[in-house]
Amino acid sequence: MTQTQARPPAVAGPAVKATPPGQAGDAPAGGDQPVMFAGQRHLLDVDTLSPAEVTSILESAEGMAEVLSRDVRKTPALRGKTVITLFYEASTRTRVSFEQAGKVLGADVINVTADSSSVKKGESLLNTALTLRAMHVDAIVMRHPHSGAPYFVADHVDASVINAGDGTHAHPTQALVDLYTIRRHFGRLSGLRVAIIGDILYSRVVRSDMHGLRKMGAEVVVCGPRTLLPPGFAPGETVPEGLPFQGVRVAASADEAVEGADVVMALRIQSERQSAGHLPDLREYSARWGVNSRRLSLANPGALLMHPGPMNEGIEVSSDVAHGAQSVVEEQVANGVAVRMAVLYALVAGKREIGQ
Ligand code: CP
Repeated sequence: MTQTQARPPAVAGPAVKATPPGQAGDAPAGGDQPVMFAGQRHLLDVDTLSPAEVTSILESAEGMAEVLSRDVRKTPALRGKTVITLFYEASTRTRVSFEQAGKVLGADVINVTADSSSVKKGESLLNTALTLRAMHVDAIVMRHPHSGAPYFVADHVDASVINAGDGTHAHPTQALVDLYTIRRHFGRLSGLRVAIIGDILYSRVVRSDMHGLRKMGAEVVVCGPRTLLPPGFAPGETVPEGLPFQGVRVAASADEAVEGADVVMALRIQSERQSAGHLPDLREYSARWGVNSRRLSLANPGALLMHPGPMNEGIEVSSDVAHGAQSVVEEQVANGVAVRMAVLYALVAGKREIGQ
């Protein structure tokens, strides 16, 4: 498919199982809400979710998208609930979409950043968690540079903890956004071939995406410089049984990865997390691994171009492709609000049913 061809229109997803909240006059969501994360109080990664739970969230997000399309985008579903966004790292998409999601659902949303909190005065993560516990908040949406930090906080609070990105480990809501975006276009995930290109070693998005896509039956092909591949990922081979992400194919070149793909996802080089100079030259990187119009034309007709953002245009993706007809990058951002509404709703409104 050439860059001038239009991407396929989004198809409506299956019927929404969960009644979308926010019909005028709704009572706050209560005990009759479906349990989407059965037995789980937190969302720390997608690896612990069953395919049915993922499907349930994606279907609920369809209902949330309908709420967002209304003239008055406000529902009382989480009225009286308090959501804290606790960000120790920069963010635009994730933080703003969680804030918007919470507010549309009627929750009180309080934003805390490391720079504006007592972290600046040396308060530990444990004492920050205990402080928020004492305030009886309902959900903590947390981003932290250290892998595992949200798991630690989850062990010390009564609130639901949602991982908004921890170090190089996981970014579960970005993965759910990506699954939702793909599913809206193709009507399914199973059997699709998704090529992910770039910094496979340090990207938390790719880790959660690989879990989610494999879980939902998609074929995943990754590629990147050898210095940016995790242990067990050998170019030209499939990750063997017994290793995390078994079954993921590692292509030997970007062209090979893109050939026949239904979705091509470019990843940012996570230079802020790299401990050493993994790349001698960005121009060479762009030529060998960047997604440009020639490379994208090797994908299947109708293939989507995705990027979790923020993009470094001209490095991992060329500007014409990033803003071209096949790009769904802005759709990913828009879908972020609906998906995060579904996650907040499932965890906070459904908490009483989950009973933890
Ligand atoms: N995709 C993503 O996590 O973007 P932000 O860093 O802007 O939240």
